[in-house]
Amino acid sequence: MKTKITELFGIEHPIIQGGMHYVGFAELASAVSNAGGLGMITGLTQRSAADLAKEIARCKTMTDKPFGVNLTFLPIVNTPDYPGYIRAIIEGGVKIVETAGNNPQKYLPALHEAGVKVIHKCTSVRHALKAQSIGCDAVSVDGFECAGHPGEDDVPNFILLPRAADELTIPFVASGGMADGRSLAAALCLGAEGINMGTRFIATQEAPVHDNVKQAIVGASELDTRLVMRSLRNTERVLRNPAVDRLIEKERALGDKLKFEDIIDEVAGVYPKIMKDGTMEAGAWSCGMVAGLIHDIPTVQELIDRIMAEATAIITQRLSGMLKG
Ligand SMILES: Cc1cc2nc3c(=O)[nH]c(=O)nc-3n(C[C@H](O)[C@H](O)[C@H](O)COP(=O)(O)O)c2cc1C
Repeated sequence: MKTKITELFGIEHPIIQGGMHYVGFAELASAVSNAGGLGMITGLTQRSAADLAKEIARCKTMTDKPFGVNLTFLPIVNTPDYPGYIRAIIEGGVKIVETAGNNPQKYLPALHEAGVKVIHKCTSVRHALKAQSIGCDAVSVDGFECAGHPGEDDVPNFILLPRAADELTIPFVASGGMADGRSLAAALCLGAEGINMGTRFIATQEAPVHDNVKQAIVGASELDTRLVMRSLRNTERVLRNPAVDRLIEKERALGDKLKFEDIIDEVAGVYPKIMKDGTMEAGAWSCGMVAGLIHDIPTVQELIDRIMAEATAIITQRLSGMLKG
């Protein structure tokens, strides 16, 4: 399949693995890239720019296909060494960066000068237009369904994607709720040039996380996620568990008076405990409604091949068949 996204990034299939904290290590990024998609190392999971440089080098020993690095600009107390991370990316020869969160404008000149293509992830048409206006090469449009931070507008992809198609001139991929060939075919119909997946890629053989995480996704339905931190305007979609119930109870009790410190036990530093140790009730972790469509733990190659075969069959048989009657 050839789309503006496969052309832009030099990949075989229009399928991107979004950055994921404590999941996006070289094992997963290289597996996705080796299967013809675009794998992504998660920059901030690496504690320093030097660690990111090592992870990039490690990934290069595992694939000779293009892969990217996610850089997330979120409101965190101790600002990470973003200039250092950017240097590691450029010096490591990585040619694709996925930015997310705050405006990446400050870093675009250095990245573009080094020949790096930037895809910015955003949750609204106005932010996508902003990304386009500052010179991003593509955007990833993350609907209300998505795992992680869906923003505060709550517009699902069936509306958000065609709205983006109406307004944007740069290519975009559909993100949030994507799981299979049906998702890919539908995203293309709505104007996207490919898909970005998070949750679906965690439930794969190669995702370097504890098996409990994969089983939790397979065992969850589309009804099992919750939105937290709305009153802090830092909404996150997470999988429901006792820690999340506790967090929501605090939100209910404190209302607008809730401060980050009130929920620190449920959200701060929980990712290694969950992803590495498999202590599933350690806190809140991002998971999409798409869990309801995930029933197995295939290899990344099997998953991507299946998505491409299914999307191709839908387009060439189901849809075109409807026109023949
Ligand atoms: C466990 C987990 C951690 C994530 N961490 C990040 C992150 O650090 N930075 C980021 O930009 N997106 C992050 N995301 C969001 C994904 O990159 C992607 O946008 C999202 O998962 C798409 O929705 P989906 O899960 O329905 O496919 C995370 C998602 C998950 C499931």
